[in-house]
Amino acid sequence: MNYEQLKTNASKMVAKGKGILAADESTPTCGKRFDSIGVESTELNRNTYRDLLFTTERMEEFISGVILYDETLRQSTLDDNTPFADYLKSKGVIPGIKVDMGAKPLALHSGEKVTEGLDGLRDRLQEYYKLGARFAKWRAVITIGEDIPTDACISVNAHALARYAALCQEAGIVPIVEPEVLMDGDHSIDTCHSVSEKTFRQVFADLDTQNIYLEGMVLKPNMVVSGMDCSHQAGVEEVADRTVECLKATVPSEVPGCAFLSGGQSNEDATAHLNMMNAKHSSSLDWNLTFSYGRALQASALTAWGGRDENIPAAQDAFYQRAKFNSLATTGTYSEELEVEMV
Ligand code: 13P
Repeated sequence: MNYEQLKTNASKMVAKGKGILAADESTPTCGKRFDSIGVESTELNRNTYRDLLFTTERMEEFISGVILYDETLRQSTLDDNTPFADYLKSKGVIPGIKVDMGAKPLALHSGEKVTEGLDGLRDRLQEYYKLGARFAKWRAVITIGEDIPTDACISVNAHALARYAALCQEAGIVPIVEPEVLMDGDHSIDTCHSVSEKTFRQVFADLDTQNIYLEGMVLKPNMVVSGMDCSHQAGVEEVADRTVECLKATVPSEVPGCAFLSGGQSNEDATAHLNMMNAKHSSSLDWNLTFSYGRALQASALTAWGGRDENIPAAQDAFYQRAKFNSLATTGTYSEELEVEMV
């Protein structure tokens, strides 16, 4: 195993001032996003949309890596037909790939899911490496509800994450380990806190059992937030404090960084929460805290684009702005006033 390469790439992915763009929506998920702006999800439209994101001038100032979907890794720039992986690499951005096959219903556990995709993964990783991917992503989903999550759900998902991580490291690919405790529901922030802590603890126990090289991985956790339908919504400082407390209790110091998912938070909330964590706590943390957002980096760009070529510059401006704000949040130097100034 090439420890140095894994460590170097993992550290680059979470370097201060930079974060990861999650542009790995599966074709059905991309279809849902396009539905929301009234655009048909054709292969060309998906290629055009990803092209506008990746070719945004100077986005590499803020973006260390991009997570691609299988189809996207095989697509190319519209301008000169350069494979996206090569194009990103030429900008100093590391190409990554989503390798899980989605969260499927967990047998005998109503309302819970387990992520599939381990069968044949060794061979797929070898191909992805040849195509230029140097990191991968696997998302596990933990749902909060009546009597759930069960120990069984947390256990199978943590186990799958650890087996995936081992296969990645064997292939020279940095695993992004993503245990997502969903925001859906009316649960309190206390419940999210305890479920997240239990989940992350189990994930690191399984990573340890599978001999994962912690310096060569990145954790992609949810933040500790109130359930979306909870009548009391915790404020920015409470989210930041609870999230940091939860990670300090569970994430070993060898891990170079945690890159949060946005999980349905608004653009502004996702940025403000990350900013508060770094402004208030960064001096006491062993690892960097950054972003690996999908929706919170893309929503404004997607709306600005609306499927029309003439809107591409406006969409790129919107993406650049969000990437910049989140970059500032990695050093605790973002402020809400910037949002107003830029409108
Ligand atoms: P969101 O930031 O939209 O939650 O997406 C991140 C991601 O990669 C989910 O797997």
